[in-house]
Amino acid sequence: MCGIVGYIGKNKKALNVLINGLKHLEYRGYDSSGIAYIKDNSLIIKKTVGRINDLEKIIDNDDYAYIGIGHTRWATHGIVNKVNSHPHKCKHITIVHNGIIENYQELKNKLIDKGYTFKSDTDTEVAAVLLEYLYEKNNDILLSIKEFKQKVSGAYAIALICDKEKDTLYAIKKNSPLIIGLGKDENFIASDVPAIIEYTNKYITLNDGDYAKITKEEVFIFDNDNKQVNYNIKTFEGNASEINKNGFDHFMLKEIYEQPAVVRRMISLNSVPDISRYKQILIVACGSAMHAGLVGKYLLETYVDKPVIVEIASEFRYKKLFIDKNTLVIAISQSGETADTLEAVKVAKKHKCRTLGIINVPESSIAREVDYVIYTEAGSEIAVATTKAYIAQVLVLAKLAYRNCAIKDLKEINNFQISLKKLPVIMEEILSLDKKVKQIAKVLSKQRDIFYIGRGIDYAISMEASLKVKEISYIHSDAYAAGELKHGTISLIEKNTPVIGIVTDQKIASKTISNLKEVKARGANVIYLTTKELDSEGDFYDYKIIIKNINPLLDPILTIIPLQLIAYYVALERGCDIDKPKNLAKSVTVE
Ligand code: AGP
Ligand code: GLU
Repeated sequence: MCGIVGYIGKNKKALNVLINGLKHLEYRGYDSSGIAYIKDNSLIIKKTVGRINDLEKIIDNDDYAYIGIGHTRWATHGIVNKVNSHPHKCKHITIVHNGIIENYQELKNKLIDKGYTFKSDTDTEVAAVLLEYLYEKNNDILLSIKEFKQKVSGAYAIALICDKEKDTLYAIKKNSPLIIGLGKDENFIASDVPAIIEYTNKYITLNDGDYAKITKEEVFIFDNDNKQVNYNIKTFEGNASEINKNGFDHFMLKEIYEQPAVVRRMISLNSVPDISRYKQILIVACGSAMHAGLVGKYLLETYVDKPVIVEIASEFRYKKLFIDKNTLVIAISQSGETADTLEAVKVAKKHKCRTLGIINVPESSIAREVDYVIYTEAGSEIAVATTKAYIAQVLVLAKLAYRNCAIKDLKEINNFQISLKKLPVIMEEILSLDKKVKQIAKVLSKQRDIFYIGRGIDYAISMEASLKVKEISYIHSDAYAAGELKHGTISLIEKNTPVIGIVTDQKIASKTISNLKEVKARGANVIYLTTKELDSEGDFYDYKIIIKNINPLLDPILTIIPLQLIAYYVALERGCDIDKPKNLAKSVTVE
């Protein structure tokens, strides 16, 4: 979801830093982009709809500038067009903005009454004009920002240039991520570190309500109470290679193949807490993170022997809740910036719940909001469709179930550590199944609908599999509890309708196989995904994918791999923009 990059310094051409930084933010999803920079004492703005490549076509690369700001927009207010793209300028003030100014209409009306005019339909331009109005009144940017914060409600990460202070950048942060990168005789602003990792791995994370004045030599940060603060300087542990494809055609495929390495990194992860004192566990998340939570539900209920509720964060926030200090709320988020999940954590804390985060991005907003955080060590995940972060979340939940198991002397618990050490090797074996997967993907890529069915934990996995194929190939797909199909949806099954049946649980395998026979009898094209242990011959399937299983706590991590590959190769067959699917963003920082 949108991105910001800013540069002030004397060592580099600002335009190169801005364009390069925006390219590393493309994965976040956007529909237009633009930059503003100062050249020969004039502020220049270049912006366009489309990709960064389209922006590069309208820029004069010979323009030398030492200060500039850049933006990728994911439109919330105002259609996708050039006028609504950022930067937005009002006289001396030029800004780029991530987030939503919620009271923009009321502010806009007041500013129109004061004689200001507007070119765009965006909420961002209202912020620019309001900052200009305050600057004209105060002749002081910092004082204007202080007043701006009092007048505006909503979420904003803003980078600002004032053409009367051509050696200074300003940054303002509330409910939308923003960091300051630190260099020698140069400094940066960015939505996240990958945008500037080629230039520096030293950064400061701004907190809600903070704002900053940044020159090439110094950074002054002021907190929500407008007091100057000195934050610790952090070092980003990742490296530039994580934001490069390293020979793969797409980040998504690279990240699928990185999954065994992620597991190897996490084998020694032992920051998993004792949760035995809680009466109930509530998992709150969005999208694939919520699907990981559904897998966690099955594992935690089975082994920790406690009720587990999984809530979609955007629903949880507004419903009647039955939670209290005896409830552990687990927030799962790859980005740690998903607005609904962040707000859900705040609601949980208001209900006196203890909150645990399973987060991939260090120091992200949710990581800083929860009482206790477990970092998945998946590294930077660039593809919008999550894969390695999802399996890392499932692994943390498996470790949580293992650590807190309430049932004595279970084989899978006694073998857990041994199984965990073997897991990456078996993952690599499954990744070599790609020939069969490509064959199946070729057939699926021509379909209008794809159905996934499973029971129990396989139903949870089928939801993630369905989302994967939907979000990157744009084929309609649904996941169903296998026993539910005949209560309506089976009416959609006709000749060649693909149905992928996931069967890994020996206790209910025969039931799901019966459901596959039901759809096969109606002409479905059945893909049967099962384990070596459960493998059975029959005429109820057209294709069979066999995977090794190792331990019920860890098998979900194996089961999802061929399903991730199916989604990838279906999208590849259809020529889709796999890493940057239309309308989607890597981190949904708006509600
Ligand atoms: C998954 O492939 C999607 N990118 C999306 O569903 C994602 O899982 C969801 O937006 C939650 O994001 P988060 O994990 O960063 O909170
Ligand atoms: N709300 C602003 C707009 O629609 C910013 C959207 C974004 O975060 O990119 O332009």
